[in-house]
Amino acid sequence: MITCFTSGSKGGTGKTTLSSLLALGCSAAGYRALLVDACSEGGATTSLLGGAPGPYLRDVLEGSAQLVEAVQVYSLPLGEEELDFYLLPNRGPLPSVSLEGFVEQLRRLANKYFDLVLIDMPAYQDPWYEEFLQRSDVVVKVVEPNPAAVAAGIVAWPPGVGDGDPLVVYALNQPRPYPKSVVKEFLDDLRRRFGKEAVVAVPYDYAASRVSPEMLGQVLSHVSDEFQDALYELAQRIIRPREGAAP
Ligand SMILES: Nc1ncnc2c1ncn2[C@@H]1O[C@H](COP(=O)(O)OP(=O)(O)OP(=O)(O)O)[C@@H](O)[C@H]1O
Ligand SMILES: [Mg+2]
Repeated sequence: MITCFTSGSKGGTGKTTLSSLLALGCSAAGYRALLVDACSEGGATTSLLGGAPGPYLRDVLEGSAQLVEAVQVYSLPLGEEELDFYLLPNRGPLPSVSLEGFVEQLRRLANKYFDLVLIDMPAYQDPWYEEFLQRSDVVVKVVEPNPAAVAAGIVAWPPGVGDGDPLVVYALNQPRPYPKSVVKEFLDDLRRRFGKEAVVAVPYDYAASRVSPEMLGQVLSHVSDEFQDALYELAQRIIRPREGAAP
């Protein structure tokens, strides 16, 4: 089950925040989630760890490292417990090679060890990145409630569709607080166009806005119930269609 987080050409909508917190939330709930950082800089590796030793995704794509060597497990103190999470980190530009072999290997690894794989994509850079989306099972289009971000999400591959192959889910996120009436207007519009099931509203959350290596433990214990419910709903949309069971 491979899920890509994209926002088309609009940056800063919350792809890294949502994919990272969803990966950690799923891990906390007992799922084995693998987070893949497909950003050259400023993606999940930086926001969760500040940086990580290689090998990186770019090395795997370049063929200078094996996928299994590059997947790393990190432990995060959470209250009395330790939370393990799996990350395929990245640093630097990705080579524009075919992704067929990589995705095949990722699927084989996932079938053995993971319940879900979440890919944190950069904002649209060049058409090469579309292959990640085309080879995914689910595409989460992270948009914020303004016309430019929604338009960018809708035209991102695959254009429109609230359903189909891959399954498309719109996460209407608030990287900054928006007036309730504005959120409702965009939520209603997206639901009318793509179906109620295809859209999940994610609130602005102060703790979620503080994701950083130093604050991570605190962030996880302080995110609001409303934010957690939204992530849970997103997880259900991603996992349920193929497994036939709620997470
Ligand atoms: N639901 C939310 N509540 C509060 N803050 C949020 C939320 N979602 C995102 N943010 C904040 O918005 C900013 C952008 O988020 P993030 O870096 O996740 O976006 P992105 O789509 O990954 O950006 P880029 O396109 O640059 O990769 C960050 O400062 C983050 O903390
Ligand atoms: Mg990002």
